[in-house]
Amino acid sequence: MKISIIFHSLHSHVYTMAEAVADGARSVSGADVGVFQVREILSEPALERMEAVKTKKLFAHIPIATTHNLKEADAIIFGTPTRFGNMTASMRAFLDETVALWRDGDLVGKVGSVFVSTGSQHGGHETTITSFFNTLIHHGMIIVGVPYTQQRLLNMDEITGGSAYGAGTIAAPDGSRRPSENELEIARFQGKRVAEITAKLVA
Ligand SMILES: Cc1cc2nc3c(=O)[nH]c(=O)nc-3n(C[C@H](O)[C@H](O)[C@H](O)COP(=O)(O)O)c2cc1C
Repeated sequence: MKISIIFHSLHSHVYTMAEAVADGARSVSGADVGVFQVREILSEPALERMEAVKTKKLFAHIPIATTHNLKEADAIIFGTPTRFGNMTASMRAFLDETVALWRDGDLVGKVGSVFVSTGSQHGGHETTITSFFNTLIHHGMIIVGVPYTQQRLLNMDEITGGSAYGAGTIAAPDGSRRPSENELEIARFQGKRVAEITAKLVA
């Protein structure tokens, strides 16, 4: 079974989460996991102004996603930073390339799942994921979240991202916070759960 993890990131928080999701998915026997990033649509001067040129180099080795990476997969797990409570424009632009897949029903019945990074705790942690689900539903995908059997969702001992809708990290308004172990473990759990459910569907 093939699982594609497709993310967008500027300052590497979502990239770090994507690697944790991939680790979780790879822990399931038979999972062939690929990690891809969407093409950046912001201009170089804009990336300079946002101080993202240096941080994007941290994951420059990750291949650029194509619609083939969607079509060939049995499950697709998307990761996006929030922008005003929604996915980023680069992720949206990639999804806008999928109209032929939609027309031919290529993603119908595949598993879809989403994880996120926000700057603040309540800056769109859940809305970014639930609004992303709209696109997955239009494609006929089967949405998988994170059930509360992952008790780290209920952790009140520290500030933590992650919800029933999907894993998440909180980058802090200045981007200084890194994904915590609690958040990374929820991300691994999500990857593993998607792989386990996909294995059952493929069988
Ligand atoms: C244009 C713009 C809009 C943003 N909107 C929000 C927002 O609505 N809520 C929030 O918590 N963070 C917001 N952020 C912060 C980003 O979500 C944060 O930088 C991102 O999660 C870091 O992920 P990355 O390191 O993978 O790029 C915004 C950032 C930018 C540049």
